[in-house]
Amino acid sequence: MQILHTIAELRTLISGKRREGARIGFVPTMGNLHSGHIALVHEAKRHADFIVASIFVNPLQFGANEDLDSYPRTLAEDSTKLADAGCHCLFAPTVAEMYPQGGNSLTRVSVPALSDQHCGASRPGHFEGVATVVTKLFGIVQPDVAVFGRKDYQQLAVIRQLTDDLCLPVDIIGVATERAESGLALSSRNGYLSDHERQQAATLYATLNQLADRIRAGERNYPELEESGNQALEQQGFQRDYLHICHAHTLQRATSIDNQLVILAAAKLGKARLIDNLELTLNPA
Ligand code: PAF
Repeated sequence: MQILHTIAELRTLISGKRREGARIGFVPTMGNLHSGHIALVHEAKRHADFIVASIFVNPLQFGANEDLDSYPRTLAEDSTKLADAGCHCLFAPTVAEMYPQGGNSLTRVSVPALSDQHCGASRPGHFEGVATVVTKLFGIVQPDVAVFGRKDYQQLAVIRQLTDDLCLPVDIIGVATERAESGLALSSRNGYLSDHERQQAATLYATLNQLADRIRAGERNYPELEESGNQALEQQGFQRDYLHICHAHTLQRATSIDNQLVILAAAKLGKARLIDNLELTLNPA
């Protein structure tokens, strides 16, 4: 696997591969890779011949009091994992390579309809940072297909929307969340959890499942269900952020006539802010 740090080197490599007729698959990440990321590489290999992964801890998507400085950076281990998974190229640019003029004067991409609620309400500017870096990475790599995890459900929706709105010729693929045996969604931020918190953390997904069961059984008072889910999480030691029952595509709060739903949740446990989601399809009434 080749490891490249500059846009110019990556462009040269990719144009050579294109001339050979290769389809380019892209897996953008912030590193500290776990088996969820590796599943993205395997999915990319099903759709493309030459796979590029990127590792870039993007300062634009972190708020002032967030974990940009402490975010785990494990490039050596990550490159071994990517090479073992059959990734062909790792692009690991510096901040100066990506943002040579600094962040302030940069052109930004925003997807207002999907960005201001849920995680976007708790993390103002986060999705603009994601949309900007993903658009820029798409411009650099020019992939045929790009693969993202469904754990970041709102992020995936934002990326699909910007790809459509800007007519970018990239197929976006979402891959199911990888989970520990306990149900806990794999995340780089799980590393912030103590052993005890890791056990408690599994109740996030269990709570979503309990709510889904109640909806499947006919309950439709969504505000009441949301409150009951938040209370269950607080009893397990979580600090509430949000728990919203939404339409699966618009991400607007669901009404009782919607059949395609997603429950989106974020909650803090110790130092970790965890997110998860559960999609459910109801039979039409
Ligand atoms: O999901 C992530 O790891 C990041 O938000 C992404 C998509 C790589 C953009 O920095």
